[in-house]
Amino acid sequence: MLIKSQDQCMQDLLSRELTPKGVFEGRRTALRKLANAGLILSATGSALNARAQSSSIAPGGGKLAPLVGAHSSVLGAVVMEKPTTYADASSYNNYYEFGTDKGDPVKNAHTLKISPWSIQIEGLVKKPMKITLEDLLKVHPMEERIYRMRCVEGWSMVIPWVGYSLSELINKVEPLGGAKFVEFVSMADPKTMPFVGSGILDWPYTEGLRMDEAMHPLTLLSFGMYGEVLPNQSGAPVRLVVPWKYGFKSAKSIVKIRFLEKMPATAWNKAAANEYGFYSNVNPNVDHPRWSQAGERRIGEDGLFAKKRKTLIFNGYEAQVGQLYAGMDLQKNF
Ligand code: MTE
Repeated sequence: MLIKSQDQCMQDLLSRELTPKGVFEGRRTALRKLANAGLILSATGSALNARAQSSSIAPGGGKLAPLVGAHSSVLGAVVMEKPTTYADASSYNNYYEFGTDKGDPVKNAHTLKISPWSIQIEGLVKKPMKITLEDLLKVHPMEERIYRMRCVEGWSMVIPWVGYSLSELINKVEPLGGAKFVEFVSMADPKTMPFVGSGILDWPYTEGLRMDEAMHPLTLLSFGMYGEVLPNQSGAPVRLVVPWKYGFKSAKSIVKIRFLEKMPATAWNKAAANEYGFYSNVNPNVDHPRWSQAGERRIGEDGLFAKKRKTLIFNGYEAQVGQLYAGMDLQKNF
């Protein structure tokens, strides 16, 4: 990744800009469409909204309709750590289609056209399909998952996502026996995404998981955060969240899911294979070639020169996912 020094990153963070009003206006239109599908309730007294308010998070400044979700019963889905503020989580982003600085996506992603939206599901499945966002929202009841998020660059957040386990969608398409891997393809529209076409990555942004990783209940197909629909810069209208892996494994604004026999090439791995492995499980014992992964800076919590937190193996989800990698050499399969 195009890593800046910690000081530069802090400068980005300190000089971040809040989402311009126009972004919210566009989102409201999209929300109206989703509301027509009967899926988004504008109940201002929703449990999620109330919880968010009581922990002084300010989701969307009260401008977005809440995306109602029940708390999750999936083991490990709720981290008892203070959530990062909505302002930080929605203005300190990596979304290279909209720029390489942390403050670029919030400034530029208002051009992302999120309606109409659909995901093409193809490859080794019994029931390939093109599924619209409206139908995707109906696949399974929404849950709230409060996950730690650890970026490969050495910073972290705690984010309450809204969505359901990706396995619910996978079961619907009935993968064939030969499907060993799943590839995720993000939207890449040069007309609305100013950095698509730049030489930073081989577009579209693609990512991949092994089938058992994709089927793990913690792997979330997310439509919202902080009780509201995803803001564009966070990967609207639908993204992946894989909490035990470095953040770049969680592809944003997904338009295609492909079931494959062979391990797919992934965008960052193609750009620098020795730096960004296919697995990219959070691991304090495997350093990035250019920096240590032993510690992390929690966004919004630490002062400029505060001591880093210790990074946890599998980002603290070892009890849930450790068995997926039993017997594997994690130094080789980084
Ligand atoms: N997905 C796409 N399509 N493009 C990107 O640049 N960045 C990745 C990941 N998904 C990225 C992406 C990286 S490097 C990280 S750390 C996370 O998204 C950031 O998610 P956030 O901005 O919601 O924190």
